[in-house]
Order: sequence, then structure tokens, then C-alpha cells
Amino acid sequence: MTFPKQVRLVEVGPRDGLQNESTPIATDTKLELIDRLGAAGIRYIEAASFVSPKWVPQMADHREVMTGLKRHNGVTYAALTPNLKGLEAALECGVEEVAVFGAASEAFSQKNINCSVAESLARFEPVLERAREAGVRVRGYVSCVLGCPYEGEIAPAKVAEVSKALYDMGCYEVSLGDTIGTGTPLTAKRMLEAVSRDVPMEKLAAHFHDTYGQALANLYAVLEEGIAVVDSSVAGLGGCPYAKGASGNVASEDVVYLLNGLGIETGIDLDALANTGTWITQTIGRPNRSKVGVALAAR
Ligand code: HMG
Ligand code: MG
Repeated sequence: MTFPKQVRLVEVGPRDGLQNESTPIATDTKLELIDRLGAAGIRYIEAASFVSPKWVPQMADHREVMTGLKRHNGVTYAALTPNLKGLEAALECGVEEVAVFGAASEAFSQKNINCSVAESLARFEPVLERAREAGVRVRGYVSCVLGCPYEGEIAPAKVAEVSKALYDMGCYEVSLGDTIGTGTPLTAKRMLEAVSRDVPMEKLAAHFHDTYGQALANLYAVLEEGIAVVDSSVAGLGGCPYAKGASGNVASEDVVYLLNGLGIETGIDLDALANTGTWITQTIGRPNRSKVGVALAAR
């Protein structure tokens, strides 16, 4: 059993964590969250989403967020861009990295981005091309890698096919999303085994939602296989607007605690991160879904 020496955390709280909130959150609150995360030592923050405000109203202030950031040295601030319109707007705001998002499920693709999987891939091509021209790196997401809210089980071969398409298109990394958190360690390993035959392990990331309480166990399983990039959300905030009942990402505090225990470096100050989780949940009136965060706050 070999674990990676270091793991890079991709903090998706300001985007995945907040996108599903129905009451508007002030742009200043989002900016303060992003600032605190940077101060806690997070080196990669998904800050905004350049999607249609009709589809995801909470992300409508993407321009204000992206241009209002207090940048910390060495931190990458990224944004979702589903199409050229989103990318152009993000570029105007000086974004340095973006992400496109596809799915391993036809039904989810239709609900989430209003097109088939094949159409989405065709739509991403010009996004990748334009981003390359602008010197902006592109990350790729695949949703529903361990199950779909509409189709149920998803074949690992389908996940591998979409991941390979994104990688071949030029995505420098492919993040594997267990959107509805139904995976278990064994299904996670099997899926990863299939995908890593087509995309090198070091180009893959784990993006696990914790709906069924399996995310940490699943992460442990894929860390054993060589995954060294983990997406997480402070205080376990979040859910996807197009996956009903899906709860937040695995909590960043819980991931850092696990990694610390395994002797894996992250460069993150756990206390500062936990304070950030306490602060944001109190500010937006949400329960803190990080067990570590709650435990540390109670000390
Ligand atoms: P569409 O309706 O097919 O697009 O939506 P369209 O090109 O026909 O445009 C329709 C309208 O949207 C037009 O406005 C466009 O201007 C506007 P109108 O003329 O009606 O006033 N529009 C835009 N506005 C702002 N920014 C844009 C943009 N594009 C078009 N980029 C579209 C297609 C993809 C835009 C839409 O379906 C959408 O915005 N979907 C958002 C889905 C989303 O954000 N989901 C959550 C994020 S994904 C996720 O959470 C999963 C992940 O975490 C991994 C995991 O957990 O699995 C990543
Ligand atoms: Mg997600």
C-alpha cells in the first residue's frame, strides 16, 4: 500500500458549495470566504461559475467575484465555463484557469447542461481551443461517475470514455465526480481502474459528494490507488442544483485531518480552515457538515 507524499486540495466551496443556496449570498461574503481559504493555505480555489444566471442564480455575480478577489501569492483561482460565452466572460475578468463539465450519464447531461454527452464534448472543443490561445489551462469534470440520479448505475467504461475524450481534447486534469455520493470504496476502485487505463492516474482527481457518508472511505480507497488531487468543500457545503437531494462535497477539514493522519502533506493550516468553516456556516445560516470542524470548534 503506497500513498502519495503530497495531495493537492481543490477547494470547491465557493462554487459547488454555494451554487445550490436558494437565498442570495452577498458577493462580499463570497469574497471573504475565498480570502480566508487562501489565508488557510489552500492553493487552488474554484471561485465562481460562468453559467447562465437563469439556470444557477446564485452564481450570477461571477464577474464581481472574479474581479473582486484579493489574490494570495501562489493560489490559483478558477471558474466553471460550460461554453464559449462563459469562457469569454471569464477571460475578461482575468481568470487564469477554467473548467468544463461533462457527464457519464446522458440524462444528467441533458438536465445539467441541456445537451447530450456527444454535443457537450463538441461544445467543449472550441472552449479548449480558445483557452489554449489565451494561455488558460482547462480542467475537465465528469459527473455521475458512480451513479446517476436519473439513470442509476453507470458503467465504468462510460466514465472512461468521457474522461479520455476530455483528456485527449486537452484538459490537463480530469476530475471524477460522484455527484450523488452513492459510491462505495469497491465501486470507486473499479471505476478508477477502468479510467486509469485510458487517462494517466496523475491526471485524475477525486470529486466526491458525501450524500451517503461514504466520501472519506472512498477517498481512502482511491488514495491507495494513486490519486493525489482531491476536490472538497469547506464545512461540506453544497450540492448540485440538477441532482435533487445530493448533499455537499466531502468536507475539506475532514480530508485534511485524514491526510494529516496518513502523513500526507497538504500545506494547509487545519485550524484556520476549520475557523473558516465555522464562520461561513454561521454567516449563511447552514449546519457545519464537517465533523472535524465541529469537533475543533467545540474544544
Ligand atoms: P442553454 O439554454 O442550452 O444555452 O443552456 P443557450 O446557448 O441556448 O443560451 C440560453 C440563454 O442562456 C441565453 O440567454 C444565453 O445568453 C444564456 P437569453 O437569450 O435566454 O437571455 N447563456 C449564458 N449566460 C451566462 N453565461 C453563460 C451562458 N451560456 C448561455 N455561460 C447552459 C446551456 C450550459 C448555459 C446552461 O445549461 C447552464 O448554465 N447550465 C448550468 C449548469 C450548472 O451550472 N450546473 C452546476 C455545475 S456542474 C456540477 O455541480 C457538477 C460538478 O460539481 C461535478 C460533480 O459533482 O459531478 C462540476
Ligand atoms: Mg460537485
